[in-house]
Amino acid sequence: MSFRLQPLPPARLNRCQLFGPGSRTALFEKMAKSAADVINIDLEDSVAPDDKETARRQTIQAIGDIDWGDKTLSVRINGLDTPFWYRDVVDLLEQAGDRLDQIMIPKVGNAADIYAVDALVTAIERARNRRKAIAFEVIIESAAGICHAEEIAAGSPRMQAMSLGAADFAASMGMATTGIGGTQENYYMIREGQKYWPDPWHWAQTAIVAACRTHGLLPVDGPFGDFSDKDGFVAQARRSATLGMVGKWAIHPSQIALANEVFSPSDDAVTEAREILAAMEEAKKTGAGATVYKGRLVDIASIKQAEVIVRQAELIAGS
Ligand code: COA
Ligand code: MG
Repeated sequence: MSFRLQPLPPARLNRCQLFGPGSRTALFEKMAKSAADVINIDLEDSVAPDDKETARRQTIQAIGDIDWGDKTLSVRINGLDTPFWYRDVVDLLEQAGDRLDQIMIPKVGNAADIYAVDALVTAIERARNRRKAIAFEVIIESAAGICHAEEIAAGSPRMQAMSLGAADFAASMGMATTGIGGTQENYYMIREGQKYWPDPWHWAQTAIVAACRTHGLLPVDGPFGDFSDKDGFVAQARRSATLGMVGKWAIHPSQIALANEVFSPSDDAVTEAREILAAMEEAKKTGAGATVYKGRLVDIASIKQAEVIVRQAELIAGS
């Protein structure tokens, strides 16, 4: 164990991030009234090049006009490989009100990408006396991004969250699939004549969780494209939660409740976590570092595991 303590991630809920194109203003009120913890208005790939300027203008207007409640409000800017991104940043920072919490930077490849956006954002915040520092979230969706996930996570004090973007990631890696998340038909193993479908996103997700946990960021699972496949979404989300991710995107409102359900600990899990903490308190009184709970070993590591669940339950109760 390093002598440096692992930093805690931001103390806010991020169970579901709901996306909607900045060009579809009719969705904004519905997004604001939804049960998603985070709203991502998109200026990037769900907006056609000819609509970029209109979408940017409408988004800035909606940030001030709509009551977004206590949601984290984020706008996905265009990638640094496009001619659009600097204008997204300048107009958002100069014209959108203080209600904007965060910008999402897509297709990040290395820490210098974060540095470039940070330099621009910082200069505008100072010039305009913005009261609230804009946070950053990023999408890891390229070979370079996953190779440099750790330096990206450490790229700025503004960094709060990191998502896996399965579609662009698959394209960049040359993966033989057009699916967005989930198991893949040709990614299987055979045992005793039976096919099994492992998870082709597992390694990338784990790399993102490790980078995020090292630097106190929220690791988030990205989109699941087939919104008619609820079981597939839930299975993917449960795998992500098991690996340490805190939430998942919704690209359709039908996915919001599913994500909230998976990323909220059940009452039984919270009760058990509290009982483990109580059992360890009792054990400490006798000087023991380990004890037995429901017939299994719990020790000082169990305290940390239980605290993750209790902390999440407290955030939900306070929301
Ligand atoms: N947020 C809030 N409400 C939404 C919504 C969204 N992202 N997408 C659809 N709705 C609403 C519709 O307006 C409709 O409302 P109504 O019942 O009041 O008429 C209802 O949910 C059902 O919508 P549906 O007809 O099933 O979907 P659609 O054909 O209108 O749109 C998509 C489907 C996928 C195009 C749309 O959901 C969408 O744009 N998703 C986000 C895409 C995106 O941002 N991608 C970037 C990240 S990968
Ligand atoms: Mg993408």
